[in-house]
Amino acid sequence: MRVLISAGPTREPVDAVRFVSNYSTGYMGAQLAREALARGHQVTVVSGPTSEPMPRHARVVPVERAAEMARALRRHAGRADAVLMAAAVADFRPAHPRRGKVGRRGTVTLRLVATPDVLAELPRRPGQVIAGFALETGHAVARARRKLQAKHAHLMVAQQVNGHGTPFGRRPVRAWLVGPGQAVRSLGRASKGQIARALLDKVEGLCYGREARVRRRAR
Ligand code: CTP
Repeated sequence: MRVLISAGPTREPVDAVRFVSNYSTGYMGAQLAREALARGHQVTVVSGPTSEPMPRHARVVPVERAAEMARALRRHAGRADAVLMAAAVADFRPAHPRRGKVGRRGTVTLRLVATPDVLAELPRRPGQVIAGFALETGHAVARARRKLQAKHAHLMVAQQVNGHGTPFGRRPVRAWLVGPGQAVRSLGRASKGQIARALLDKVEGLCYGREARVRRRAR
């Protein structure tokens, strides 16, 4: 399979020296890339700024802002059999980033606007499998189900965080695999490697199952 993975955070500029972002490290995306390569797939990673090393045999496309990530993914999605959207796209960006540096003063008001929903707006190819990640502080499975529908994805990894410490990076998290449809499988408290293996098992099952059905119909 050709597997397209998004990884890491995005950075949305405030001024010449500052940005709005999140704590994503890119580790989940890197684990997905490693697992997919180990299974013999071709891997492209569109990655926001991260110090997480990506596997040597993955093609890496570095990006910075959500809009750049959307453009890069659109460019590569047409050829992908599976798109795994592990990136923590910044949900907001400053409405009017300044060219120069804003000097320190008593109060600064930052007006933020929503970034585009990259996953929901990706063009789809028939037969392609699309997976997203939902990191939630409550009702993880219910929220992931809603996102699965709203974003027209086939699979969602729901992750429950308890608000203590960052859920990003090497920390195990409570996770569920949601979809296709209403199906839910608990992965328990899982490492990112375990999540990558469970997701790729499911993605391969869907891709190869569909391929076999198309071949049967063509006979
Ligand atoms: N995502 C995206 N573009 C965005 C925000 C999120 O493509 N602007 C993708 C993420 O990569 C992830 C999935 O959508 O695979 C769910 O991300 P999440 O932040 O949980 O969803 P949101 O739609 O931003 O919902 P929320 O209001 O809970 O933040």
